[in-house]
Amino acid sequence: MQVAQARHVALVSELGEHDRRYHVEHAPTISDVEYDQRYRELVELERAHPELVVPDSPTQRVGQAPISEFPRVVRAVPMLSLDNSYDEAELAAFHERVVRGLGGDVPRYVVEPKIDGIGIEVTWHAGRLELGATRGDGVVGEEITTNLRTLRGLPLRLSEPVTVTVRGEVYLRRDEFARMNEARLLAGDEPFKNPRNAAGGSLKLLDPRVVATRPLRAFFYDVVDGDRFAACHFEALAWLRRLGLPVSPDVAAVSGDADALARAVASWRDRRDALPYDADGLVVKVDSFVQRRELGATAKFPRWAVAFKFPARQVTTRLIGIVATIGRTGVVTPTADLEPVELSGTTVKRAGLHNWEQVARLGLRPGDRVLIEKAGEIIPQVLAVSEPSDAAPFTAPSACPSCGHALVQQEGEVALRCPNRLGCAEQRLFALVFFAGRAQLDIDGLGEEVAAGLVEQRLIGDVADLFTLTVEQLLTLPLFAEKRAANLRAAIATAAQTATLARLVGALGIPHVGTVTARAIAARVKSLGALLARLDEGGPDALVADLEEVDGLGAVIARSVAAFFSDPQTRGVVDKLRAAGLDPVAAAAKSGGPCAGLTFCVTGTLTRPRPEVLRLIEEAGGKITGAVSKKTSYLVAGDDVGTAKRAAAEQHGVRAISEADLLRLVAGESL
Ligand code: IVH
Repeated sequence: MQVAQARHVALVSELGEHDRRYHVEHAPTISDVEYDQRYRELVELERAHPELVVPDSPTQRVGQAPISEFPRVVRAVPMLSLDNSYDEAELAAFHERVVRGLGGDVPRYVVEPKIDGIGIEVTWHAGRLELGATRGDGVVGEEITTNLRTLRGLPLRLSEPVTVTVRGEVYLRRDEFARMNEARLLAGDEPFKNPRNAAGGSLKLLDPRVVATRPLRAFFYDVVDGDRFAACHFEALAWLRRLGLPVSPDVAAVSGDADALARAVASWRDRRDALPYDADGLVVKVDSFVQRRELGATAKFPRWAVAFKFPARQVTTRLIGIVATIGRTGVVTPTADLEPVELSGTTVKRAGLHNWEQVARLGLRPGDRVLIEKAGEIIPQVLAVSEPSDAAPFTAPSACPSCGHALVQQEGEVALRCPNRLGCAEQRLFALVFFAGRAQLDIDGLGEEVAAGLVEQRLIGDVADLFTLTVEQLLTLPLFAEKRAANLRAAIATAAQTATLARLVGALGIPHVGTVTARAIAARVKSLGALLARLDEGGPDALVADLEEVDGLGAVIARSVAAFFSDPQTRGVVDKLRAAGLDPVAAAAKSGGPCAGLTFCVTGTLTRPRPEVLRLIEEAGGKITGAVSKKTSYLVAGDDVGTAKRAAAEQHGVRAISEADLLRLVAGESL
């Protein structure tokens, strides 16, 4: 027992340290496999000796049952907000007030990003995470300890047994936010509007197991009663880092006058976009705690700090018109055509409008002056009308801009779609380019230009026509001579022979069906013939029911697949493809293969192309799923795996392995 206890203590502290190195320093010192071995050992040890389980064991991050509501926390030291400044002059005025308040002394400042997330306050008691709460209105917040415990970057135990309360911000990185939203869309969930909303929404979830699947991170920027631990803010932050807490690496000390402050702030003009998370400005803080006390606070703001808001990347310009464009899936979207205007370094002529409902909501008219904003990396968006014109408002088009077919709006969808998938030249072109793309049938020599030629010369009505093209027909394309035509013909023939069912299903461009989903569908239905037979015999509901049984495939995708194959137009193409010889059968899961009976979820960036990795698994008899569940055997994790997948794996007790481990498994070795 003593041996077990000693081992338990060692494992808890070692894993805590590796969590910190991985999630806070982003510099792990052991491999994922080694981490997982220790984690498993800890799980086993706790199973054998349940009395050893302590709240700060890494096994205890998730697992608490959902709660019904969050208790309120009333704080003695309110979390104040910050006064704002918007330009150099206001910043200089702040500096002057500070110097005056200090009787003429010029302080040292610290300048750091103002993270656009959700304010939190967390207390560690004798080094152990004890209480976490939202900022709320500053005085009253919500106690969300169980949710905060799921953040892997938040240590359950500090490196020293201190009792300390710190304040910070929970946020999501932009890339992880985008990945999470993509996954939500695929699963049929409503995407979040921005990283801040996602952070706020996630922290308010009552089930910590769901919170654990969100890629939440935190930065700390304030120590309550910091003068008990350090002489100044800069030192306090260094101390927080030593305790194992995540602190922004972009914190700079600035000494000198208003010019030095202005320079420090100006240096962020270009850097702000390079931050991996959203920041809505900077915070300028007096460094010395003694000087802070001297300056004091008003009822709302400390006098020793000010927020410097990044210049709004907004301008107004004239709206000339609205252009309707069609995408691969037939959705027709509006884009604003603008009088060119300078906006943070570029000339803007076009701005996005989300959909036609937004056009109506804003009441846009030709000639309006509109307010546009550049938000982060995406193209500018129209926010509002600042001066309306008296022209008649724009209305949504009723006909497709490419083919003139009447547009339709599907139930529950805002988007306007052209249903004429095959008769619409633009959609035909998109479909063809996609079909021939690398991740689909990978037809060499069939890029955008050739595809455009094929559509324009009317050599192709739908993708199935590719397989009956003759060399003579190809010779009519611009810049095509014998050799090029023969090569393309050969590439098409090769694709026809080698296409797997999964690739073919993926290449059809079924809404909501990506590579991984296509594989899952292929593995379930076995062949297009079997899928169509199911549809013909049992109707769409039978097919939907079958597909919903597939791991990681929700109702939205299942219905989308059934609708695709029920549509007479697309069904016609599928029949033609089969008649042209494209009728692959899913490779039977090799019952004897080394990975038979195992299910893999592949995520992150791998050294090999993803389709190759998936093929290796399938050839070894393994199954692939898009989401981690309790049925998953292994999470194959690339370099930059999001915390969400890791948390899901941890929640289901799924082991994460590297690409190298996978190669050993498919080669028949054991791990
Ligand atoms: S210091 C009394 N530093 O901004 C001053 N706040 O408007 C304490 N925030 O509620 C705040 N990044 O949630 C500080 N680096 C940073 C910050 C930051 C974001 C938020 C915080 C606060 C709000 C103030």
